[in-house]
Amino acid sequence: MNLNELAELIKSRRSVRAWQNKPVSEELLLQAIELATYAPNGGNRQNWRFYIILKPEIIKSITDAFQSTSALMASWPEAAQFGDKIAGAIKKQNFLYSAPAMIAVATSQYQSMEDQLMELRGKIDPKAIEIQEWRDTANSKIQSVASGVAYLLLILHQMGLGAVWMTGPMQSKGDIEKILKIPAGMDVVALIPVGYPAEIPPVKSRKPVKEVCEVIK
Ligand SMILES: Cc1cc2nc3c(=O)[nH]c(=O)nc-3n(C[C@H](O)[C@H](O)[C@H](O)COP(=O)(O)O)c2cc1C
Repeated sequence: MNLNELAELIKSRRSVRAWQNKPVSEELLLQAIELATYAPNGGNRQNWRFYIILKPEIIKSITDAFQSTSALMASWPEAAQFGDKIAGAIKKQNFLYSAPAMIAVATSQYQSMEDQLMELRGKIDPKAIEIQEWRDTANSKIQSVASGVAYLLLILHQMGLGAVWMTGPMQSKGDIEKILKIPAGMDVVALIPVGYPAEIPPVKSRKPVKEVCEVIK
C-alpha cells in the first residue's frame, strides 16, 4: 500500500450508524481484532479485552439500558434548560438497535512500575503526588485502548464494514457490564456497533493542519 492508498483509506472512513440487515461473520471480526492488537499500547501490556456480541437479544438489552439511563437523565428538572435537545439526542441513538454486531471494549487494571513508585512515595512526599497527577492526565490505560480502537475502526473499514466508536452508552456502564458478565477489575469503556453500511455519511471536514499543529524550531 502506498501513501496515497493509505490516505484514501483514512479519509474515506466514516462513523457509520445505519446497516444492512446482513450478518457479520465472527471470523472476520476476530481477524479485525487480531490486527488491531498490533496497535501501540503502554508497555505492551495489551490491557484491552474485546467482547464480540452477535446475539440480537444482548444488543437489544444493552440499547435498552442505554436508552433507559438517557430517559432518566432527560426526566431531571435540570434537563429543561436544554429544550428538545436531550430528547433529540436520545432518539438519535436509536440506531444502535439495528446493529448486526457489536464489539464492547474493556480495559483491565493498569499500574506501571512508576505508578507503583508514586503510590508508595506519595504517602510522604507531595512532589510524588504532583507527578502522579501529571501522569494521570496522560492516562495510559485509556490511551492504549483508544489506540487499539482507532486501528480497529480503520481495519473494519478496509474490510467493507461500517462502525462507530461510542462512549455515550457508558452512562449505563454498570448495566452493560452486568449484561455482558464482565469480570471484576475490568471496565467497559467503549461500544462499537458494526455491520455492512446501509448509508455512508458525507465526509466531515477537518480543521486545517496549521490550525491544529505548531512547529517548534
Ligand atoms: C471517544 C469517542 C467517542 C464517541 N462517542 C460517540 C457516541 O457516543 N455516539 C455517536 O454517535 N458517535 C460517537 N463518536 C463518533 C464521533 O461522533 C465521530 O467520530 C466524529 O463526529 C467524526 O466523524 P467521523 O468518524 O465520521 O469522521 C465517538 C468518537 C470518539 C472518538
